[in-house]
Amino acid sequence: MTAPTADIIDGKAFAQGLRDRIRARAQALSERTGTVPGLAAVLVGDDPASAVYVRNKGLQAKEAGFLSVEHRLAASATQEEVLRLVAALNADPAVHGILVQLPLPPQIDPQSVIASIDPDKDVDGFHVVNRGRLVSGGKGFVPCTPLGCLLLLRDRHPDMAGMRAVVLGRSNIVGRPMAELLVQADCTVTVAHSRTRDLAEECRRADILVAAVGRPEFVRGDWIKPGATVIDVGINRVPGPDGKARLVGDVAFAEARAAAGAITPVPGGVGPMTIACLLSNTLLSACRREGLEPEQLDG
Ligand code: GUN
Repeated sequence: MTAPTADIIDGKAFAQGLRDRIRARAQALSERTGTVPGLAAVLVGDDPASAVYVRNKGLQAKEAGFLSVEHRLAASATQEEVLRLVAALNADPAVHGILVQLPLPPQIDPQSVIASIDPDKDVDGFHVVNRGRLVSGGKGFVPCTPLGCLLLLRDRHPDMAGMRAVVLGRSNIVGRPMAELLVQADCTVTVAHSRTRDLAEECRRADILVAAVGRPEFVRGDWIKPGATVIDVGINRVPGPDGKARLVGDVAFAEARAAAGAITPVPGGVGPMTIACLLSNTLLSACRREGLEPEQLDG
């Protein structure tokens, strides 16, 4: 008898489908109104991983037919320089989405920079106004990674009402907004973290487990309820057997796959969804400026 193995949730394919729909809608928007969605990315310093992310965001924005501009500032840039650039992008009517890549160099306060972005262009969904809109049911922007996780979950479970969801991690970018989205989907939600008593036992109760702790292969196979859906947000670089870096998630994949009903791989799970959702938020911003909802552009 072979061990049961979970279905693999193919985030790469799902994200491709989403980007195809976004491209079609962006084209319809431009034909109807003349507006082309514009995304401005700000990269301060030369962190190689951040540079790769920003480049990929720009490439995928262009592939979706968007206007994409990248602004680079030196690692020594002052807070005033960053704030001045954000102010110029806030005022630029061709820009519908502004993304300031994090982390920022230590001399720059990320909270002040995020607070300076026009909330209606804050396609990362990090501004306190958008946080407030998320919890109060207003029309804002949902942070891209939790939004991507939700889309994958909805595809697998069109009705999540009454399911027990455990979110592992309480970051502002992923864990907390994820928990809010799952509450809105009528799940019974637990947010577990480094101070949770008996983390494994909490996880074993989860029909849906979202792991976002940033610790390689932290969640073990015996933490997974049989048949559960596991969403792995982690992207951790660890040395591979050949000495080269290899990417692993926050979940020990092979062990978890033997127990789960469905699981996202790393890479190719949540990762591609984040950029697709950034494009989705940028299109949404452009549509709202024109008084439309993106769905109105279909057909
Ligand atoms: N750094 C890591 N993830 C993100 C993200 O989603 N948005 C921004 N702006 N920076 C990040």
